[in-house]
Amino acid sequence: MQNVFQGRSLLKEIDFTKEELMYFIDFSAHLKEMKKKGIPHRYLEGKNIALLFEKASTRTRSAFTVASIDLGAHPEYLGKNDIQIGKKESVEDTAKVLGGMFDGIEFRGFKQESVELLAEHSGVPVWNGLTDEWHPTQMIADYLTLKENFGKLEGLTLAYTGDGRNNVANSLLITGAILGVNVHIVSPESLFPDDELVKLAQEYADKSGSHIMITDNVKEGVKGADALYADVWVSMGEEDKFAERVNLLKPYQINMDMMRATGKDETILLHCLPAFHDTETEYGKMVEEDFGETEMEVTDEVFRSKHARQFDQAENRMHSIKAIMAATLGNLFIPRV
Ligand code: CP
Ligand code: NVA
Repeated sequence: MQNVFQGRSLLKEIDFTKEELMYFIDFSAHLKEMKKKGIPHRYLEGKNIALLFEKASTRTRSAFTVASIDLGAHPEYLGKNDIQIGKKESVEDTAKVLGGMFDGIEFRGFKQESVELLAEHSGVPVWNGLTDEWHPTQMIADYLTLKENFGKLEGLTLAYTGDGRNNVANSLLITGAILGVNVHIVSPESLFPDDELVKLAQEYADKSGSHIMITDNVKEGVKGADALYADVWVSMGEEDKFAERVNLLKPYQINMDMMRATGKDETILLHCLPAFHDTETEYGKMVEEDFGETEMEVTDEVFRSKHARQFDQAENRMHSIKAIMAATLGNLFIPRV
């Protein structure tokens, strides 16, 4: 009997049902336990996995690499300067070549269209490791981290503050709405998510019983939040926007005042990382020199506080990516979800 995941690609969250996304989350928790107990789980023995990266990555690349090896597969990193994709060879032709050699393909890059084309033409499962529009593997780790902390997902409230229309914001909004988590996008109006996306999220929220809120009012947006979530103010590919964003997003910085404004003691901090919470980076130094700011989307105080869960969340990237690869490529016995 073939399971409902076998052979499928994870390109964006809406390709999967609530039950299927919950399966990924719970399977990730199971694989995490197996790893901690040292129980082998080599479901992809002998398989070969291509890791395509047009953009830089620490977590996603490391997670796919370690997860592949734990599963018994061989990962091969193909960076943007290593292969012909885009420059000398179309995505379609690349997909056909890689599909003939590899059993699964991870893609991180700019256009969502590229990852869709890879899936269409490679004939093997393709996993979206982040595009300009979506970051679906991140979502499994994020909602797993929420569930680990609160023992459930339905009825929780996650407030995302900052750039409300980037890949992570889009994915959090849609995934929360599907899963029954209340999602508040708290950002200036000029960075509100796309109307169509909000409409779609509302439809999912009506079905799951969650509520979504899009607001530029920080007090209202963070009230009652079980998790405050930040991402960088300037995403990869937008590096010319620091001046605009630093000024615009300062009121949306997660600091202790914002933490207190949730009205809850147990609120956790989530951040997909990397984070600008000090000046220990080139961009951090540049922003200090040019704008006099030493912290951006989250203060160092909150980042190092009892609320912080961002490094658990980062570790969970590995367990969740492992679950996604194993479920879609491992011929597992999954009778129903
Ligand atoms: N969160 C995340 O995707 O991190 P990397 O960019 O390091 O992969
Ligand atoms: N929005 C960020 C996410 C990084 C994981 C970016 O695209 O750069």
